[in-house]
Amino acid sequence: MPLFVIEHLELRVYSWCKLEYQHISNWVGKSNLLFTNTSNTFLKTIGRVEKKKAKQLTFEKACVLDPEALLLLTPEIANKFKTFIFGGILGDDPPQERTKVELSSSDLQYPRFNLGKEQMSTDTAVIVTKKIVDGTPLEKLSFQQGIDIEINDSESVCLPYKYLVVHGKPLLAPGLVEKLKTQKGF
Ligand SMILES: C[S@@+](CC[C@H](N)C(=O)[O-])C[C@H]1O[C@@H](n2cnc3c(N)ncnc32)[C@H](O)[C@@H]1O
Repeated sequence: MPLFVIEHLELRVYSWCKLEYQHISNWVGKSNLLFTNTSNTFLKTIGRVEKKKAKQLTFEKACVLDPEALLLLTPEIANKFKTFIFGGILGDDPPQERTKVELSSSDLQYPRFNLGKEQMSTDTAVIVTKKIVDGTPLEKLSFQQGIDIEINDSESVCLPYKYLVVHGKPLLAPGLVEKLKTQKGF
C-alpha cells in the first residue's frame, strides 16, 4: 500500500475536515496516512502527524495530485509511485487553484497529475486515487457533479464538487449530512 500524504492547509482542523480525514483513514488505513503541517491531536488517532510541511520532508517516489496538473493519473502511471500528496483544503467555488499555489512545483519538485479537471473533495480525491492505484482507470468510475442536501423542509445546501458514486449513491464522508443538518458553517 502506498503512503497518502495530506498537507493540512486550513487555519484550523474544522469539524468538516475531521469527517473527511476520518473517511480517508477508513479507506487507506491509519498506517498509510500522514498529515503534514499540523500537530492536531485528533489526527494522531487516525494517521501519522508531522508538524513540518511536505516541502521540508523527503518522500520516496512521490507525486502531487492537483486539478490544474496537465496529465491524468492512470493505473500504469500510479504503479510507478509510492507516495501521493494532496492538499487538505476545503473546496471553494469557483476553485481558487490553492493546490497549485500552496503545494507549488517550486516547493515540491515531484510529478503532478490530475483526476480529471473538476474539483473533488479531498476524501473523494484520495479514494479515487486509491482505486486508480488498485487498477481501475478514472473512466471506469462513476461520478456525480454537485449534490444538493436537504437540511430541513425549506432549505438545502449545495456541495458543488464531483463525488464518486458507489452502489448508485454519491459517497460522502460518514456524518457529513448530519453535520450539515445540525450546524451551518464548518
Ligand atoms: C477540495 S480539493 C482543493 C481544490 C482547490 N479548490 C484548489 O483550488 O486547488 C482538495 C485536494 O483534493 C485533490 N483534488 C481534488 N480534485 C482533484 C482533481 N480533479 N485532480 C487532482 N487532485 C484533486 C487535490 O490534492 C486538492 O488539493
